[in-house]
Amino acid sequence: AGELRHWDGAVEQARSPILVQTKDGLAPKIVGSFPLLTEIEALQALDAAVHAYNNGRGIWPTMSVAKRIERVQEFAYRMGEKRTEIVKLLMWEIGKSYQDSVKEFDRTIDYIQDTIDALKDLDRSSSRFVIEQGIIGQIRRSPLGVALCMGPSNYPLNETFTTFIPALIMGNTIVFKPPRPGVLLYRPLLEAFRDSFPPGVVNTIYGAGSKVTPPLMPTGKVDVLAFIGSSKVADSLKKLHPKTHRLRCALGLDAKNPAIILPDADLDLTVQECILGTLSYNGQRCTALKILFVHAQIIDKFLAKFTKAIDNLKCGMPWEKGVNITPLPEGRTDYLKSVVEDAKHFGAKVINDNGGSINETFFYPAVLYPVNSQMKLYREEQFGPVIPIVPFQDIETPINYLTDSDYGQQVSIFGKDADVIANLIDPLVNQVGRVNINSQCQRGPDTFPFTGRKDSAEGTLSVADALRVFSIRTIVAAKEVDLNKT
Ligand code: G3H
Repeated sequence: AGELRHWDGAVEQARSPILVQTKDGLAPKIVGSFPLLTEIEALQALDAAVHAYNNGRGIWPTMSVAKRIERVQEFAYRMGEKRTEIVKLLMWEIGKSYQDSVKEFDRTIDYIQDTIDALKDLDRSSSRFVIEQGIIGQIRRSPLGVALCMGPSNYPLNETFTTFIPALIMGNTIVFKPPRPGVLLYRPLLEAFRDSFPPGVVNTIYGAGSKVTPPLMPTGKVDVLAFIGSSKVADSLKKLHPKTHRLRCALGLDAKNPAIILPDADLDLTVQECILGTLSYNGQRCTALKILFVHAQIIDKFLAKFTKAIDNLKCGMPWEKGVNITPLPEGRTDYLKSVVEDAKHFGAKVINDNGGSINETFFYPAVLYPVNSQMKLYREEQFGPVIPIVPFQDIETPINYLTDSDYGQQVSIFGKDADVIANLIDPLVNQVGRVNINSQCQRGPDTFPFTGRKDSAEGTLSVADALRVFSIRTIVAAKEVDLNKT
């Protein structure tokens, strides 16, 4: 899948997090290569999107909603045929386990289908006639222009399509940069893009994000910036946009989601959810639980059960059965080691057996206790299998943690007393985009609002909300005429 056809320019090799034996020792497996576009080529792709949009007069933005739906449906069908190949690429490119790779693929197809259904609903309810004060109006939803869509390498398919599909189906034209890693899995889709959409509607650019996307912004030709990734990158791109017209943004950014474990929490359920929340896909989810606040009354019991469950997890290759911990991207284990050392320096200990790095690619989950505000792990988004645990007595401690945080994506509360939980919901829901009760933090179901506050998000990216983000409500208004008189 990684072999290139018809490309004379520079290429970059795609390195897998999976190490293989070479004559020089263990090294990342090369799983393919992809084109490295120059700045000029990236600008040409943007111009193709501008041309296809043609100030709202192009084939795509003027096509009926029903026809656009047909095209996207056709694309989903073609994509469905590539399931096996794309799942394999997910495992090799980003080291995601087989079951999680299948889940990512299938939920992406569901996301497309749900978007189609939501658009049919939206079209029924918004394309209607209203009569007010002698004026008859037809309300519509219209596209915004050219959308630059980029997703992250932890969910290269699902999160990229979270912006790409609603932007496309609403009639915008697209410049889209696949994440690195995660770029190769778009190769099997290139023909489907070409065969499903008119020329210039979907334009794929490749290369280092830091090189090929910044030059697009000062042109003022990007109307919507749709990005899921780090807030630093989003801010730097936004700053490059000229002040000639407003830039609409749809952003899913950083997070440091806490769990609050109350004294009456069901410990078996809590441990199970916290394992999923902290360690699914090695903790490399924006929605992962990244710090656990545990009430002092139950801390010993919780730690005993939690560490026992952690020490039963299996490290292995993505395609192995029942594997929980898979290889990490290059350089990641060094960072994780450094935050563990920092926490140790300020008095925390790794309290489970075997916690820590195994080699350059595997890092066995490490539970750090007790963690306090002096340590990097208290505020930094670790994005890996390191779990900081903070004991608390007063419920104000975790609430203040959220209030003072730069982020506001999600929180989980574990407990049984419905009144206590009910009293926490209002103060918490005003800090984050989602409060989870007796469950890990998570995005799904993908039809639920996916958003956050502060540096965690801009706009809401659930299915129906995203259709609104990538369009505006317009109206065609006419004076009512009495046909009997004419
Ligand atoms: O990385 C962020 C993803 O949207 C998380 O989705 O909660 O289903 O893993 P998830």
